[in-house]
Amino acid sequence: MNVLFIASECTPFIKTGGLADVIGSLPSSLKKTGVNVSIMLPNYSDIPEEYRDEMKLIKTLTVHVGWRKQYCGLLQFIHNGITYYFIDNEYYFKRKGLYGHFDDGERFAFFNHAVIDSLPYLEDKPDVLHCHDWQTGLIPAYIKTMYTYQPFYRELKTVFTIHNLMYQGIYPATIFHDLLNFSDEHYFGLEYNGCINFMKAALFHSDVLTTVSETYSKEIQYPYFGENLEGMLIHRKDDLHGIVNGVDYEEYNPETDPYIYKNYSHSPIEKMVNKRLLQEELGLPKVEDVPMIAIVSRFVEQKGFPLIRHVLEELLSLDIQLVILGTGDPEFEHAFKDAANRFPEKVSTSVTFSEPLARKIYAASDLFLMPSRFEPCGIGQLIALRYESVPIVRETGGLKDTIEPYDEFSSNGNGFSFTNYNAHDMLYTIKRSLRFYKDKEHWTKILENVYQSNYSWEQSAKRYTDLYIKTLKV
Ligand code: GLC
Repeated sequence: MNVLFIASECTPFIKTGGLADVIGSLPSSLKKTGVNVSIMLPNYSDIPEEYRDEMKLIKTLTVHVGWRKQYCGLLQFIHNGITYYFIDNEYYFKRKGLYGHFDDGERFAFFNHAVIDSLPYLEDKPDVLHCHDWQTGLIPAYIKTMYTYQPFYRELKTVFTIHNLMYQGIYPATIFHDLLNFSDEHYFGLEYNGCINFMKAALFHSDVLTTVSETYSKEIQYPYFGENLEGMLIHRKDDLHGIVNGVDYEEYNPETDPYIYKNYSHSPIEKMVNKRLLQEELGLPKVEDVPMIAIVSRFVEQKGFPLIRHVLEELLSLDIQLVILGTGDPEFEHAFKDAANRFPEKVSTSVTFSEPLARKIYAASDLFLMPSRFEPCGIGQLIALRYESVPIVRETGGLKDTIEPYDEFSSNGNGFSFTNYNAHDMLYTIKRSLRFYKDKEHWTKILENVYQSNYSWEQSAKRYTDLYIKTLKV
């Protein structure tokens, strides 16, 4: 079975968030279940030269974007046994940054058109198109409408995965005629509240919908999480599946990770070496028994930063070290930099993104804080488990599905969690975790449970494969 992934980012080529990790790591696990996966992406100029130099042009096409006729180069690159295709057009993709341009609607309309037009020229004809997030949302719509009369396209099945429902690709209705080349009778499937909505187009037209955790698949059927599309999702609930993400256990492996100070596996003594050396690097006091709490994240509202800011003073009155890494909303960047200036012996804030520093923080920290308001899956908590940093999370989406709160009576649980989106509930939970940190017997048990947790891709890859097989039979 041939499956083509279509997405807007993918490690190691280009990444802004968790989507890139999923697209970069799931295919090799799918391969092990017998699925032949290739991947199609835009050829952004931000992709490092070392990869761009290796890409081979296999076809040039003229793609229609409304009345425009645009060049499209179809490039191929085989990397670690997986075939990648890149859609090349310098006008749309030779820019700094992936998103946030004034004409993103046009850029991704072009990408969707170009993907459709390229399909006949791929090495293996796909059986399933697996599209990810709004940037690919029109593809299922084209397949099920304008292209169903062409034999090549008619048999293609479409799977669409929601990685984050908050970003939908909403544009003025005028793009329907100006950019999209649909005939009028298909307006209904793309329109939402008087606008064209790429995400809605996918939810309406795809054969199968998935999202990245069981809990999020249920949550988005309610207004609080549904981002105004809950009605559509309730309508499609029988075709909507929650499959939790994994992480690449070879890439994220404290036993072999080249970025961390000392490799380790389930050894508090060796992990402590990482803690001491990170304290030294960041200029924090070199104390062993003060718990180090890590935050590695984009600084956005979704991730629960309003809660942290709200109780920051109380948090800083505790006997802890807080190590923060990330970039994002200036409001949070300033608050964390300010905290580091006022409490240099307690807080280190690095406003940047650095993979090596991120790994060192996972390896050195005792606890990992991720109090998201909503979280489709979340990858930080999974990496934290792998590096034996105990997650403190809010019970939502994938956080709820992967972190079981520690129960001191049964000794079960691989982290700490709270239910309501409330700053003092979070603070209480942090304090509770610190109490257990001081209690050697419980802490050893918690670390054991963390060590036993397994979120590699194996199980989830099997579920995707079953879903593809089922989809092909329908
Ligand atoms: C988005 C979600 C995150 C998820 C990731 C990959 O970034 O916000 O929760 O882990 O996509 O699916």
